[in-house]
Amino acid sequence: MGRTLITGGLVVTAADELEADVLVEDGTVAALALRGGDTARSWAESGAEVIDAAGHYVIPGGVDAHTHMELPFGGTFASDTFETGTRAAAWGGTTTIIDFAVQSPGRPVRAGVDAWMAKAEGNCAIDYGFHAILSDVNESSLKEMDALVDEGITSFKMFMAYPGVFYSDDGQILRAMQRGAANGALTMMHAENGIAIDVLVEQALAAGRTDPRYHGEVRKALLESEATHRAIQLARVAGAPLYVVHVSAGEAVQELARARDMGLNVFGETCPQYLFLSADDLARPGFEGAKYVCSTPLRPEEHQELLWRALRTNDLSVVSTDHCPFCFTGQKELGRGDFSKIPNGLPGVENRMDLLHQAVVDGHIDRRRWIELACATPARMFGLYPRKGTIAPGADADIVVYDPNAEHVISAQTHHMNVDYSAYEGRRVTGRARTVLSRGRVVVDGGEYLGAAGHGRYLSRGTCQYLI
Ligand code: URP
Ligand code: ZN
Ligand code: ZN
Repeated sequence: MGRTLITGGLVVTAADELEADVLVEDGTVAALALRGGDTARSWAESGAEVIDAAGHYVIPGGVDAHTHMELPFGGTFASDTFETGTRAAAWGGTTTIIDFAVQSPGRPVRAGVDAWMAKAEGNCAIDYGFHAILSDVNESSLKEMDALVDEGITSFKMFMAYPGVFYSDDGQILRAMQRGAANGALTMMHAENGIAIDVLVEQALAAGRTDPRYHGEVRKALLESEATHRAIQLARVAGAPLYVVHVSAGEAVQELARARDMGLNVFGETCPQYLFLSADDLARPGFEGAKYVCSTPLRPEEHQELLWRALRTNDLSVVSTDHCPFCFTGQKELGRGDFSKIPNGLPGVENRMDLLHQAVVDGHIDRRRWIELACATPARMFGLYPRKGTIAPGADADIVVYDPNAEHVISAQTHHMNVDYSAYEGRRVTGRARTVLSRGRVVVDGGEYLGAAGHGRYLSRGTCQYLI
C-alpha cells in the first residue's frame, strides 16, 4: 500500500494536541514526528504520498459503538444496509462501527451472529464488529456466550423494554450477567421498564392519545431511572460490569453517578439526539413528530444540560448514535393513528462527529474530550484500543483530516444515509471531515467518495479494557 505522510495539521487525540506529522505505512501508523525537526522533512523527501493538513485537525477515525444496520423492527427493517450505512459513516468521519447481531427467540445466538456476518461481509466501507442481542436467555444461549467471547463478540445487549420482542426478565438478566462475570463479557442494557410502559401505552391509546408525542409521555424518565437502578443492582449481585446504552433522562444519570461514585464498573452512553433534540421535536405538528420516535425517548430540553455535565464528569463516557433509520414515507407512517406502531429509531451515523465538534465550538466539551467520547473510550470499552481510537505507532491508520472551520447545513438533500429525512434538518454546524483514511486507504476526500464496499473488515474484539 506504500507510504503516506499527513503533514501540517494539529494531531488531536484523547491525550494530546501536537503540531506533528504522521507517517502511515501499509495501513498502519508508522510514526509521528513533531514539526520542525529533520524527521518529517526526510519522510517528505522519501517519496511518500503527501496529504496536506495545514489548518486542519488530524484526528482518529470515529468509533460508533451502537448502530443497527438493517435491524428488523415493528414489521419493517432499518433502511440503511451495511453498504449504505458504512459509506455514510465514512462521509461523516467514522471509520469503525459496532453493530448488533440479533438472536431471534427460540433460535441460537450463533444463528443471529451468522446472519449479521453474512449481511456485512463484502459490503462495508469501513471496519466493523458486532455485539450480540440476547432475546432468549436460556441454558443453551448462556453456554453460547463463552464461545462468542472467545471469538471476539465480547458484549451482549439485553432489553428491559419491549415485552414480547427483545425483553428479558430480571432472572434472565441476572443469569446472563453471572455468565458475563465469569467469561469477561460486558452486559449492555436497554434500561426502561417495558412492562410498566406497556400499561401506559394501552391506557394512552384507549384515551385517544395516539400522536407521536405520547411516545415520549408514556416512556417516563422515572421508568428509565428505575430500570437503570435495577440493572445496576443486578450487576452488583452478579459481580458483573454494566454499560447502559442510550441514556436520556437526568434521573438515570443520577443512578449511574451514584454507582460510579461507589467505584462500580458501571458505564453510561448517550447519543447526539438526546443532546441536540428534545420532546418538543416529538410534539411537532401533524405527524412530523414520528421522525423523532426512538427509545429511550427524547426528553424535555432541561435534561440536555444534565447530560452535558455528565459527559464532562465522565458519568457518561461514550457518545454513540444508536443509528437506526426508518424512512418517514412508508416506515414511520406505519404508526399513523397509533404511536406505538411507529418503528423506533433515528438516523445519525453520518452526523455524530460534526455534532460533537459543534459541542466543542459551543463550549460544552474541549477538543480532547470530543475525541475521547467519540473515538478512544468506545474503542477501549469494547476491546479495540489502541488499534482503533487513537493515532499512535502501530494503530490502524484510521485517520480523519478534519476542517474545524467548514460551515455546513445538515440536510437530507445532501446526506448519504439511506433515509428520506434528517433529524437535524437545517442545523448549521461548524466542522467537517475533509479527508478520511481507513487502514491507510483514502475513502473520502474533498467531497468525493473513493472507498469501496468490501474494504471494511470484521473486527474480532477483546474484552472491555476498563476492567481490572
Ligand atoms: O429507538 C431505538 N433505540 N431503536 C433501536 C433499538 C434500540 O433499542 O436500541
Ligand atoms: Zn435499546
Ligand atoms: Zn440501539
